[in-house]
Amino acid sequence: MTSSSDKMEGFQRRDFLKAGVTMGAAMFVTPTWGGLGEKDQSKSNINKNYAMVNKKRRTLGSGKHAIQVTAVGLGCMGMSWHRSFIPDRQPMIALIRKAYDMGVNFFGTAEAYGPWKNEELVGEAIQSFRKNVILCSKFGFNIQNGQLSGLNSSPTHIREVVEQSLKRLKTDYIDLLYQHRIDPNVPIEDVAGAVKDLIKEGKVLHFGLSEADPANIRKAHAVQPVTALQTEYSIISRDAERDILDTCEQLGIGFVAYSPIARALLSGYINPLTKFDPDNDNRDTLPRYTPEAITANWPFIEAIQDFGNSRGLTATQVSLAWLLAQKPWIVPIPGTTKQAHLQENLWAIDYEFTPDELKVFTDTIGKIRIVGARN
Ligand SMILES: NC(=O)c1ccc[n+]([C@@H]2O[C@H](COP(=O)([O-])OP(=O)(O)OC[C@H]3O[C@@H](n4cnc5c(N)ncnc54)[C@H](OP(=O)(O)O)[C@@H]3O)[C@@H](O)[C@H]2O)c1
Repeated sequence: MTSSSDKMEGFQRRDFLKAGVTMGAAMFVTPTWGGLGEKDQSKSNINKNYAMVNKKRRTLGSGKHAIQVTAVGLGCMGMSWHRSFIPDRQPMIALIRKAYDMGVNFFGTAEAYGPWKNEELVGEAIQSFRKNVILCSKFGFNIQNGQLSGLNSSPTHIREVVEQSLKRLKTDYIDLLYQHRIDPNVPIEDVAGAVKDLIKEGKVLHFGLSEADPANIRKAHAVQPVTALQTEYSIISRDAERDILDTCEQLGIGFVAYSPIARALLSGYINPLTKFDPDNDNRDTLPRYTPEAITANWPFIEAIQDFGNSRGLTATQVSLAWLLAQKPWIVPIPGTTKQAHLQENLWAIDYEFTPDELKVFTDTIGKIRIVGARN
């Protein structure tokens, strides 16, 4: 006897696999058979990807403060900063452009990434399609001698940073400007007021916060409605479920999940022998990325792989699809430096958990003890 949820699951899985096989074959094999020429074929592959990525756009924020974005965005930080190696510039520009060709319209950077280099990279990459995308950046640090040196969200500093960011991004407006971290020395109302002024001037279109607590979110929102909160959230880092997601839901604020693959941990690619460059990788300082914690948390990764193996999904795709299943106003922004990973991550959009499997899977992984704090 096949239950309706089994049928539904079967249908979704078939649908997903069919799309995956078609697109995968098309991407990696140059067609030699008749029909479309090579150039047309590759255009048609892009169109298929584009349609798939775009069919499920999401809304972040409410009313006139809302933005429409692809269900998965692209976090660009790791192309310049904090993920050990720094790839050559041209392949990263090509990767950002490929993401756009595949339908992604949501790109994230920050003054701090590099610092500055990542904004420059993103600005150059998106120039020819800038008006078609939602470009996000962040302020909130002092930068001295090319290093971050403490928080600074004073209104004067915010204005200076935005002027410089606009130049680096080669644009005259930032779609979504986040405060990177709450600055204990500056009342959040003053921060929101400074961004409100920039919005009035047209230099910024929407306001965001990052890793803010409910009290600050509420205070900021009362001055300038917040479109999105960007905070760490993944299947292994679920602190946001305590009170942050409820606050966002009550206020109609969207949620942008950063480090949605837990900085590659959930992909299964990180093992106890993985080396992080201490000069350019914060994982070297985080308790969850020690060889001992990676070994101790392996059953968690295996549980995700098990779920994916029977459904034709990678562990990364399961992790992203799980986030998408939590709320329709959550948008993960995985970072990558690889075209293959970009494609894999975007295909996660096509997998929908049935309510039953979401419950069973979440219960199963919820019972596994996690070793090592996320930060
Ligand atoms: N607001 C904040 O304070 C804050 C903090 C951290 C991050 N962020 C934002 O969030 C974005 C993403 O966060 P993140 O880079 O920390 O973590 P992440 O997206 O969870 O993980 C990125 C890492 O996973 C790897 N990866 C990506 N896709 C993969 C795949 N399909 N298979 C295997 N490995 C894969 C990447 O390596 P490859 O390059 O080899 O693919 C990279 O090392 C950043 O770009 C940034 O925009 C914001």
